[in-house]
Amino acid sequence: MFVESIQLNNYRNYDSADVTFSPGVNIFFGDNAQGKTNLLEAVYLSGTSRSHRGSRDRELIRFGADEAHIRLFFKKKDLSHRLDFHLKQRKAKGIAIDGVPIKRTSELLGLLPIVFFSPEDLSMIKNGPAMRRKFLDMEMSQLDRVYLQYLSNYNRLLGERNNLLKQIAVFPQLRETLDGWDEQLIETGENIIRKREAFIGRIDEMMREIHGKLTGSQENMQVRYEQNVTVEAFRETLWSRRDRDIRTGTTSVGPHRDDMAFFINEVDIRRFGSQGQQRTAALALKLSEIRLIEQIAGDKPILLLDDVLSELDSHRQNYLLENISDIQTMISCTGLDDFVNTRMHLDKVFYVERGSVREYTP
Ligand SMILES: Nc1ncnc2c1ncn2[C@@H]1O[C@H](COP(=O)(O)OP(=O)(O)OP(=O)(O)O)[C@@H](O)[C@H]1O
Ligand SMILES: [Mg+2]
Repeated sequence: MFVESIQLNNYRNYDSADVTFSPGVNIFFGDNAQGKTNLLEAVYLSGTSRSHRGSRDRELIRFGADEAHIRLFFKKKDLSHRLDFHLKQRKAKGIAIDGVPIKRTSELLGLLPIVFFSPEDLSMIKNGPAMRRKFLDMEMSQLDRVYLQYLSNYNRLLGERNNLLKQIAVFPQLRETLDGWDEQLIETGENIIRKREAFIGRIDEMMREIHGKLTGSQENMQVRYEQNVTVEAFRETLWSRRDRDIRTGTTSVGPHRDDMAFFINEVDIRRFGSQGQQRTAALALKLSEIRLIEQIAGDKPILLLDDVLSELDSHRQNYLLENISDIQTMISCTGLDDFVNTRMHLDKVFYVERGSVREYTP
């Protein structure tokens, strides 16, 4: 599977652009603030319907323009497909697959799996749990529409429960209405916990193998699901915390407080790992993500590496590049120096300057 080309109109700092990719390694180089990340962002958005930076649609529209368009052609199992995105200032974006408009963005997920790797991802292990939960949710949603459904239901129920908690603090007679919400929250939450359990089990296996190769097997890597509450205890704990939740106006128990824990030789490296251990684990996690998508979806994802190569030492750089030689990759960087010492074959090199992309021949 690979992206054949992308066309941008009034997207970020692009007036109009048309880029034809190689199915192998594509390099985008240029000075700061020229549009490299913006281009990768547009590819990411085509697969996931969102910006990897979490920007709103209207922020993606070129300053001063009313709307933006992205058109992307990709090949999957030898068939060509087209995706169209129409971003608007005040309305939800329009999306069409092969010319047919879709009603829900969830219809898009899984069609064009994408893995985005940025320098921030290298801090995933040492940062707080929110980033790891987001990673988990994004990955699982790309692979499993049912999970995405559970997740959006859960988040909606959680928001409604929290609103109700605040109302109960003022109108205690509303207290009984919590029962109905709690039942729904528990049911959906349990589904999420079960799915996370299974998925993290697979990450653990995959990561152990990759991490072993990365470090020459000296360390024993483990990923564990750190549940805020188990399926068995969810109902009772939610019930017993009810008074406290009403006082604080928030739900203090449930999978929205989950985390993933990373251990090396039984030491929790979120807190006690060295920088290098944390970054190596993050790299192994990203590589696991690629292989898991391949296993579960039966397709190789597209890999976007935004400015990440210069953050890795040459050993890890080489390991990464050797392990992605079979998938389409788009790499952004400020210069080509990083590649001098790698054995990597660069299929296509582009120079990005002030919102224009042109093929570069040295
Ligand atoms: N909606 C928008 N309209 C016009 N320009 C925008 C918009 N959003 C962002 N930009 C501009 O796009 C420019 C390029 O941003 P981008 O993040 O792609 O740079 P980059 O080439 O990745 O640079 P770096 O090497 O620093 O990461 C920035 O100067 C930014 O101000
Ligand atoms: Mg950038």
